[in-house]
Amino acid sequence: MYDLAIIGGGPGGYVAAERAGAAGLKVVLFERKSLGGVCLNEGCIPTKTLLYSAKVYNYAMTGDHYGVYVNDPSFKYDEIVARKNKVVKKLVGGVKAAMKSNKVEVVAESATIQGRDSEGIKIEAGGNVYAAKNLLICTGSEAAVPPFPGLKEAGDVIVTNREILEMTERPEELVVIGGGVIGMEFAAFFSTLGTKVTVVEMLPKILGPLDDEISDMLQKQYEKKGVQFCLRCKVTGIEGNTVVYEDPEGKVCRVSGDKILVSVGRRANLQGFGLDNIGVELALNPAGRPYGIKVDEKMKTNVPGVYAAGDVTGFSMLAHTASREGEVAVNNILGKEDRMRYNAIPGVVYTNPEVAGVGLTEAEAKAKGVDYKVVKLPMAYAGRFVAENERGEGICKVIVGAKYHEVLGVHMLGNPCSEIISAACVAIETEMTLEQLQEVVFPHPTVSEIIKETSFTI
Ligand code: NAI
Repeated sequence: MYDLAIIGGGPGGYVAAERAGAAGLKVVLFERKSLGGVCLNEGCIPTKTLLYSAKVYNYAMTGDHYGVYVNDPSFKYDEIVARKNKVVKKLVGGVKAAMKSNKVEVVAESATIQGRDSEGIKIEAGGNVYAAKNLLICTGSEAAVPPFPGLKEAGDVIVTNREILEMTERPEELVVIGGGVIGMEFAAFFSTLGTKVTVVEMLPKILGPLDDEISDMLQKQYEKKGVQFCLRCKVTGIEGNTVVYEDPEGKVCRVSGDKILVSVGRRANLQGFGLDNIGVELALNPAGRPYGIKVDEKMKTNVPGVYAAGDVTGFSMLAHTASREGEVAVNNILGKEDRMRYNAIPGVVYTNPEVAGVGLTEAEAKAKGVDYKVVKLPMAYAGRFVAENERGEGICKVIVGAKYHEVLGVHMLGNPCSEIISAACVAIETEMTLEQLQEVVFPHPTVSEIIKETSFTI
């Protein structure tokens, strides 16, 4: 009998397995594909590896801004992809080693929940049946591909985040449907390598949930780099390698590419592993359609002993959310008091420049009726940013409560904000006020000082 069975070895499942194993629980983890899940195999890590190659190429191309001259910079796409594969392999190996050192039994099979009897929760995998006291479901999500007319006929012209990573050649022209996080990261990567990129987005802005001013600044920077944005444009169909869309005036327009990336969101994986056999309740959207497993703040489902974490819950679909949710589930299984909080979950978009934010945006504060103030400064107020970002533009915005100045949100554009946003996460998580932030000593010279500088502008 296992203390804990985990279905899915992504950042939700493997982190939970590691913590549970380290705490002495007997754990079995089922993963039918590769440990690390979407994040490690076809998401966060491979894309960041590709984007880093693009960044290095961009440094070579713009070396003259720093007095450095590189003759005819070039790249070999196949070598960029090979390095990406090498990085993924190395990190998957790391997860395997972590499972071993924490005595987690890994079963490389597809698992099916059979139900519960006197021996516990039963799970079948590879012809064997496993019994466990607790079950954690971390089956993740997959790309949502709407049934656009003509999509099937278009064949392998259509790619999602998965197939685009497997391409061995760079497309000359790429059409991106959906200017969200995945769309913008691939737009950033391919446009840097010289691909003509067009982004078709139905909202009036890219990166919908992001701070409006920041998403506008990022869009302008990518327009300068040659990316074409068709906003308020709704895709209506595909004709071979051509995307058909309606522009804001209702005019039918067309744009073609060697490849068409569909990045219009992700859908929780709720099918194919016997979820019905155990009676887990699903969360429904306003239209009454299930979008994820319903959980409480302890990541418990309605079924005693059954927990869920990660994208399968259908919201905050981020690797770091998944890992924390997995930890919360394990702590509750261990009898420790812990609950999931979503007010300080950072979001990063790894474009160049990067975008990072945590907590409320101005638009969210307004919608919630929060009495707030905004303080902001250009990134150039941090000396290190000026030293390292010739011709670079950026901004740091802090949203605080109007009365007590408690930090509610921090939003930044400019490198390396993906790294410095953690300071803002701590400020929000610990309910710091701007005045308390002013007393913190930040290392000099670092770009992170922009947070402290901004706090003095209240
Ligand atoms: P997304 O939800 O970020 O963006 C999808 C976009 O597609 C939206 O802006 C939406 O308005 C647009 N759209 C939907 N239907 C459309 C249509 N018919 N025509 C034109 N536009 C349309 O979803 P995305 O980019 O696919 O990412 C999926 C998930 O993966 C997100 O939850 C994201 O947070 C996560 N992710 C996170 C990353 C990070 O943290 N850096 C990187 C990549 C993905």
